[in-house]
Amino acid sequence: MEPDMIPLSYDQVADMVSVGGTILLTSRTNPFKKEGGPQLVMKNAKDARLDALVAIGGEDTQGVAHKLAAFGLKAVGVPKTIDNDLSETDVTFGFDSAVNVAVDAIDRIRTTGMSHERVMVVEVMGRDAGWIATHAGIASGAHIILVPEEEFDMEAVCEAVAARKKAGKNFTLIVAAEGARVKRKQGQVTSAQELDQFGHPKLGGIGHLLAGEIENATRLETRDVVLGHTLRGGSPMAFDRVLCTRLGVAAMDLVMKGRFDRMVALKGNKIVDVGIEEAIKPKLLDKELLSLGRMFS
Ligand code: F6P
Repeated sequence: MEPDMIPLSYDQVADMVSVGGTILLTSRTNPFKKEGGPQLVMKNAKDARLDALVAIGGEDTQGVAHKLAAFGLKAVGVPKTIDNDLSETDVTFGFDSAVNVAVDAIDRIRTTGMSHERVMVVEVMGRDAGWIATHAGIASGAHIILVPEEEFDMEAVCEAVAARKKAGKNFTLIVAAEGARVKRKQGQVTSAQELDQFGHPKLGGIGHLLAGEIENATRLETRDVVLGHTLRGGSPMAFDRVLCTRLGVAAMDLVMKGRFDRMVALKGNKIVDVGIEEAIKPKLLDKELLSLGRMFS
């Protein structure tokens, strides 16, 4: 949107493999929300004599790249989001690192839960998908995992916590996705009224709601922790470092071959490319993982 560009030389991108975030200081924005936005992007791209644009991001970023193709933008997509919610790729990069950070944090939270005999509710990001909650929940031995893909019954959760106490289990660990939905309550729990530029609500607060309800219903001391942006920060895991290197090289191959409006993706152990339009369809938790998460709840 703004002709604010940084030429990247080898020197500038050297020694970056262990760094998270972006040195370009880019973040999601929606040119279609601004009068003349797409035309402005095209003008800036033309003035900068861009051969192609590599759009690194999730559903919203890829969606904009795809829509701009109709305006003549030559774009290639690279699937980056902690949410892991893009169709047509087995994994998005960022996801594995986020899960590992969550597991590390939950292991630490477990210490207080066990020694103080409390119910600990941990809220993790993931928007409308329960990938992070399920992977982090299974890997950290959570007793209850709550995901957006399946509404949960608040009373049933409280009863399960009480039943654990009755059975002599003095610690209960609950991992809740920020997008988890309570049965008979409308919508998700949000931390702000406004929607973002892409029409998404700002999720947050389900953990706090759960903790209050559980404490009221069971009289057991309960605490909630929101992991939030902690999951998006710090140093990436080796898996993500290798994956983003492979995807980055594949993206450059697509540019060199002039194959635009396509996104690079991981399928099995192969890097392939897929149409961006297909790729932006949401990928929710698959049934097998959903039932695995349920099995341990
Ligand atoms: O899409 C990635 C994500 O981290 C979601 O898991 C989360 O809901 C959202 O972004 C938070 O966005 P922001 O940093 O703009 O609040």
